[in-house]
Amino acid sequence: RDYDFGMIGLGVMGQNLLFNMADKGFSVIGYDKLEEKALALESGATANTLVKGVTELQEMIDGLSLPRRIMMLVPAGKIVDDVIAELLPLLAPGDIVIDAGNSFYKDTVRRVQYLKEHDIHFMGMGISGGEKGARYGASLMPGGDRTAYNHVHNLLQAVAAEVNGEACTAYMGNGAAGHYVKMVHNGIEYAMMQIISEVYDILKNGLQLHNRQIHEVFKKWNEGRLQSYLVQITADIFLKKDEFTSADLVDMILDKAGSKGTGKWTSQEAMDIYISIPTIDTAVSMRMLSWQKEERVLASKLYAFPATVIDTNDQDVFIDKLEDALYVAFIICYAQGLTMLQKASAEYSMDIPLKDVVKIWRGGCIIRSLLLEDFYQAFVKDNDMTNILLDKNIANLISPRMEAFREVVAKAVMASIASGGLQNTLAYIENYASEKMPTNLIQAQRDYFGAHQYERIDREGMFHTDWDSLNF
Ligand code: 6PG
Repeated sequence: RDYDFGMIGLGVMGQNLLFNMADKGFSVIGYDKLEEKALALESGATANTLVKGVTELQEMIDGLSLPRRIMMLVPAGKIVDDVIAELLPLLAPGDIVIDAGNSFYKDTVRRVQYLKEHDIHFMGMGISGGEKGARYGASLMPGGDRTAYNHVHNLLQAVAAEVNGEACTAYMGNGAAGHYVKMVHNGIEYAMMQIISEVYDILKNGLQLHNRQIHEVFKKWNEGRLQSYLVQITADIFLKKDEFTSADLVDMILDKAGSKGTGKWTSQEAMDIYISIPTIDTAVSMRMLSWQKEERVLASKLYAFPATVIDTNDQDVFIDKLEDALYVAFIICYAQGLTMLQKASAEYSMDIPLKDVVKIWRGGCIIRSLLLEDFYQAFVKDNDMTNILLDKNIANLISPRMEAFREVVAKAVMASIASGGLQNTLAYIENYASEKMPTNLIQAQRDYFGAHQYERIDREGMFHTDWDSLNF
């Protein structure tokens, strides 16, 4: 009994995370029912590291030092409960189990409670960074049982990505905070991907640029203030050739975007806590619309919107405006997600430290970008800020670029380039930053047809009017 850490599930993520831990000096055991995966774990490990692959759960249990530290990296859903059911009779009080998959946070709340009744410390942890992150440094978002966290803290620090010498992992809060933070991370990921794809549409169809030129644009942007993982991989994508034809691979990919649930959950959950996240909603919704390929083909025959080229006096100047628009839209995507986290933290008593959330998103994760440093500085000043758009420095990044943002959206609309993500992002900030919205009229309508009452601008209380007796 002397291994430091056990992993259940030796898929790409589980395997790579173990290799990473082993490289940092920890001895690890990986369990998978499939023998080839257990064997691949041992053969793929760095020479002279302590890595063992097993196909019997009991063998892993017997080999771990106490309290046992076990991580599960299996597909979210019922499988997690099945694994827990299999594992529980083999564990001893005080053992630690971490679910590091993309589990729905409400399942995590239930599992934390259930395992607590059996004296097992259970934690939900978000991991971002994909295969490479798992192998060489990810962003790790653990939450839940504090005792358990203290037992695994060193290990997580060792395998997390680093920014300015600091590990991209921190305690995310009580209960299911780890999975909640990861869910919102993914919501932001969806939103950023949506608006990048719209900007691609504008470059391709609005400005008629070729893939090589589009690559150049994203590459240049990634060298400046838009520096981010998503912009970087976007630039790379336009260079990849297809292996079956002479085309560029991106042009051969069917336009149906998959999704595994985290984006949709973010939208659903935001509604439950009355938080507006329209860019994320649009991103989820457009992925769904993308699936109706056959119907879209039919509709495209029926409507045949003219694909017009965007009229610019100077294309380079317009591309600079596009950069400004994307920059502002990125900030607002983050703002929506972070606002949601702040509200959820209070609503569900999770005590999520927003300052640490943005700090550990600076490296390793899919939504890492230069901007996170600005947000970090904003939360260092005020960790309870409800919306980063209220920070003066953030406002100074946005305000000078609003005109460019509006022009980009207007030109895209006139060229019939669907740009719902950008449009709704613009609508979000225009509404958020307006003292008066036209919702006074909605209140009047509600009171007219349903006597729902309204508040007044000049006196306290609720009012109802008999709207039928109009006094002209
Ligand atoms: C990450 C990613 C990762 C996964 C997404 C994909 O942070 O590393 O978010 O967790 O790639 O969940 O989600 P969809 O399949 O829903 O796009």
